[in-house]
Amino acid sequence: MPDCTAPVGVFDSGVGGLSVLREIRQRLPHESLLYLADSAHVPYGEKSPEYIRERCRIIAAFFVEQGAKALVVACNTATAAGVTELRELYPDWPIIAMEPAVKPAAAATRSGVVGVLATTGTLKSARFAALLDRFAADVRVITQPCPGLVERIEAGDLNSVELRVMLQGWVEPLLAQGCDTLILGCTHYPFIRPLLSRLVPRDIRLIDTGAAVARHLGEVLTERGRLADGESSCRFYCSGDPQRMAEVLPILWGEHAEVELFSR
Ligand code: DGL
Repeated sequence: MPDCTAPVGVFDSGVGGLSVLREIRQRLPHESLLYLADSAHVPYGEKSPEYIRERCRIIAAFFVEQGAKALVVACNTATAAGVTELRELYPDWPIIAMEPAVKPAAAATRSGVVGVLATTGTLKSARFAALLDRFAADVRVITQPCPGLVERIEAGDLNSVELRVMLQGWVEPLLAQGCDTLILGCTHYPFIRPLLSRLVPRDIRLIDTGAAVARHLGEVLTERGRLADGESSCRFYCSGDPQRMAEVLPILWGEHAEVELFSR
């Protein structure tokens, strides 16, 4: 009998993947979760693909040791750089990854112009280019890297004047070019959705993929007969400063929790 009580491993460069973890917990409340914030190496968006692949290998090996029954790469940048290699290394392990929501955005736009806010690493990747080839043939896609935004969210800044000015500088040119749909192509960005939605007209759609990832995880676990149905727990690890992460958890996760140091 497969062990359904084994945890699901979830990671990101930092606290951004908590936006995905929230969706997983809401949809799959019986799953035990391990969350690793690789904060000593954030931001991934400005690192080389080789660097990110190495971090992915180290983190995946840790979750395997912990007996995780599935892995969620709760990071668009790590998916772009590392998921192909991870799937080669662990062909029998369910690995759920994420990429900017180009397909739903192309279906939703009425103006035919879609904006993508994401990290430099995601936007430069071959995986993103392939995504545009597959799903964006009939729409105009304008990409906007957001350097510095992840660092602000990591610091717990979700609403400052400086942040607002930064966002306006990126979003207003997209709106001026006719964008009616904005993709939040980095898992940190859903945390600033409330601020963003105040900066754009009401009819502009903001799309992210956290809920779709949680749904897909549920489907994969169901297919394999590994969906949990008992009591669950959630453990947090951080390669940076666990105390600092513990301080932002109540804001981004909604609860206090202990954070253990991950020192690899
Ligand atoms: N949260 C990540 C993503 O979805 C990466 C952010 C970063 O570390 O640059 O792309």
